This record gives sequence, structure tokens and C-alpha cells, in this order.
Amino acid sequence: MTKSTNIVWHDSEVTKVQRQKLSGHKSVIIWFTGLSGSGKSTISVALEKELYEQNIRSYRLDGDNIRHGLNNNLGFSSSDRTENIRRIGEVSKLMIDAGLITLTAFISPYEEDRNQVRQLVESNEFIEVYVKASLEVCENRDPKGLYKKARLNEIKGFTGIDSPYEQPKNPEVIIDTDILSVEQSVDKLLHFLQKNEYIEKNNYKTN
Ligand code: ADX
Repeated sequence: MTKSTNIVWHDSEVTKVQRQKLSGHKSVIIWFTGLSGSGKSTISVALEKELYEQNIRSYRLDGDNIRHGLNNNLGFSSSDRTENIRRIGEVSKLMIDAGLITLTAFISPYEEDRNQVRQLVESNEFIEVYVKASLEVCENRDPKGLYKKARLNEIKGFTGIDSPYEQPKNPEVIIDTDILSVEQSVDKLLHFLQKNEYIEKNNYKTN
């Protein structure tokens, strides 16, 4: 809901389609969701690098990073998580308007919040990528030592332990990181982008 009154939208004279032409490719949100430690950040970093090497303009938004700045006034209550995702959805929408392929790596545990972001943009502008790894695997990886703290009750409301994660019902892509390597995961995503004509075929290296 908008709090401000007396505000009037002012259109640009440059359109999204013109910016996409300038970029030489479509723009889209690639929305990574999954448990902490599932591999969202790692895969999005690797995909971003690969896209850059293919002359594709992208930008990555990552939960831990964004919470240092734009969202540093938010914690992990369910309402703060919802606000976190709402803001990232709005920022992502601006970024695709700017002609960028936008990669987001947030746990985004609530289905309704992810669907709200999907509704913000056109139907082909949101790709939900479920980075799927069992809690057991994530907990064994525990790259930041946070699961250990959550089990010791030093962190309360940790996703997967004492805070819920709602699995996507119909994601465009599932990356099963129990099985796939980072390279295989990136390949799967590049194939998807190519097959659905977000990026040109000849941009894609086969190995
Ligand atoms: S989200 O739930 O609001 O989407 P987000 O992706 O921004 O979460 O941030 C998750 C990151 O914050 C985790 O990867 C972890 O490093 C850190 N974190 C700290 N406390 C928690 C918590 N209670 N639950 C989940 N992640 C937490």
C-alpha cells in the first residue's frame, strides 16, 4: 500500500524494449530460492561470471549483501522477511526495466512472497529457480556455522530449524545441489535461458 499521496507517475522517453536492444538480450529476473547453504549464492555468482563472459549484462542481488545496506533495518521475523522480499522484488523490477538479467539469491521462504514478486512483472520475466538440497546436506555443509548455532539455540527462528521453508510448487527450474556440481548447475541454467530465447544460441559455449 502506498503511503504517499499526490504522486504522479512520470514516464521515460526510453523504453524497456529499447534498453534491451541496447543490451542485446532480453531482461529477466532469475529468482534463486532455497535453504541457507543450499548453494544459491555460489551458483548465482558462477552464473553471473559466465553471463559476463558471454557479453551479457547482469546484476546479482544477494541476501547477506543486501542486508548490509538497503535492508539493514530488517531482521528475520516473518514480516521482516516478507518486507525483504517485497523490496528486492521492486528493485529487481527496476533492474529488468534497465535491461539487465537480474539474479537474486534470497532464502525467500514464503510462497506467497515469491508469488507477489512474480505478479510484479510480465509472465516471461520471472524464472523461479529452486535450489534444492536436503536440510541434512545444508546442515552438514554449514558454510557459515549458523546451523550449529541454531541447534544450540544461539540463533532463534532459523530457516529449516525453527522457521519454515515453503518449497516452490511449480518452479521453472530445479537445481538439485545434492547431485549437481556448480558447473553442471550453471550449464542447466544456461540451457534453460538459451532454450527459452532469453539469450542467443551462439552466445552459449558448449563446454
Ligand atoms: S530471507 O528469509 O529474508 O529470504 P535472506 O536470504 O535475506 O533471508 O538472508 C538469509 C541469510 O541470513 C542466511 O544465508 C544466513 O547467512 C543469514 N541468517 C541469519 N539469521 C538467519 C535466520 N534466522 N534464518 C535464516 N537465515 C539467517
